[in-house]
Amino acid sequence: MLRTPLLAAARSTGVRKLVEANPLTAAVVDRFVAGTTPEDAVSATRSLRDQGLHVTLDHLGEDTLDSAQAAGTVRAYQRMLAELAEAGLADRAEVSVKLSAVGQFLPTDGEKIALDNARLICEAAAAAGTTVTLDMEDHTTTDSTLGILADLRVDFPWVGAVLQAYLHRTEGDCRDLATAGSRVRLCKGAYAEPASVAFQDKQEVDRSYVRCLKVLMNGEGYPMVATHDPRMVAIAGDLAARARRSPETFEYQMLYGIRPEEQRRLAADGNKLRVYVAYGDEWYGYFMRRLAERPANLAFFLRSLVSS
Ligand code: FDA
Repeated sequence: MLRTPLLAAARSTGVRKLVEANPLTAAVVDRFVAGTTPEDAVSATRSLRDQGLHVTLDHLGEDTLDSAQAAGTVRAYQRMLAELAEAGLADRAEVSVKLSAVGQFLPTDGEKIALDNARLICEAAAAAGTTVTLDMEDHTTTDSTLGILADLRVDFPWVGAVLQAYLHRTEGDCRDLATAGSRVRLCKGAYAEPASVAFQDKQEVDRSYVRCLKVLMNGEGYPMVATHDPRMVAIAGDLAARARRSPETFEYQMLYGIRPEEQRRLAADGNKLRVYVAYGDEWYGYFMRRLAERPANLAFFLRSLVSS
């Protein structure tokens, strides 16, 4: 019930000022965000590596309308990738990029600028010896993001994409992308979307997730099963076994701070588990989506405000 207002608040400058100004927010944000600097990102990666886990790093930021800020985001990724390589961790961590953080929404030539900027990040990732996955944002960006993915994959065939099971179109997108060398991260979807494009009922989203998983597991690509849902994790394992996939041919993914014991359990059982680690100052939108996902996250936040 609170999902829609929280997701609306995720894009409200007024609420953002209120939440950011509250000194008590920081402690809760820390649960989901690994710090603000590239050093924090590297240190979180090292700690997760020591627990047998893999990582994808997200330099927080989205929806920029300022080309200088978009260029700053590219530099932040370049610096972080260099530090990752320097620390000998590039075989354990890749990066996740939101195209709206590197210019996709700029009013003039936004898509071209986002493509050029994403290309710079891919070059830095290649130099470091790792890969890039493009995050997926609201449905108005899906065609543009998949178009940029196709352009990038000409030179960087290892670039991956996220598909969101709540969109009606996604089963078809899975079919298109379940090809050799194609890395697809399947999630349920975190934005407020209208019924014209997205399933609204949780059970329908779950059923779509399973249909998409079947396509990806039976295809020739590399499925990345991004969910904390124990049912989806179990079904993914069954489908992988039925498709005779070995553990190196797909992976599970979860967000930093969510079900950490389950992350370690899956890895200890011989699966590849990658943790999505967000860091940086621009945590507001990411944080609000985490609150919207789960009443318990919101309750934890509200309790911390009341009890302090
Ligand atoms: P859901 O929220 O439906 O929860 C199902 C069940 O999982 C719960 O009933 C509970 O059992 C368990 N569970 C969930 N959260 C838990 C918690 N905090 N503690 C304990 N149990 C919990 N979205 C998007 O739109 N674009 C993107 O690019 C990405 N990228 C992305 C990357 C990665 C690696 C992940 C894991 C997720 C994303 N997402 C995303 C977010 C995604 O769309 C979705 O909003 C969240 O993962 C929540 O959905 P779940 O699949 O976890 O299940």
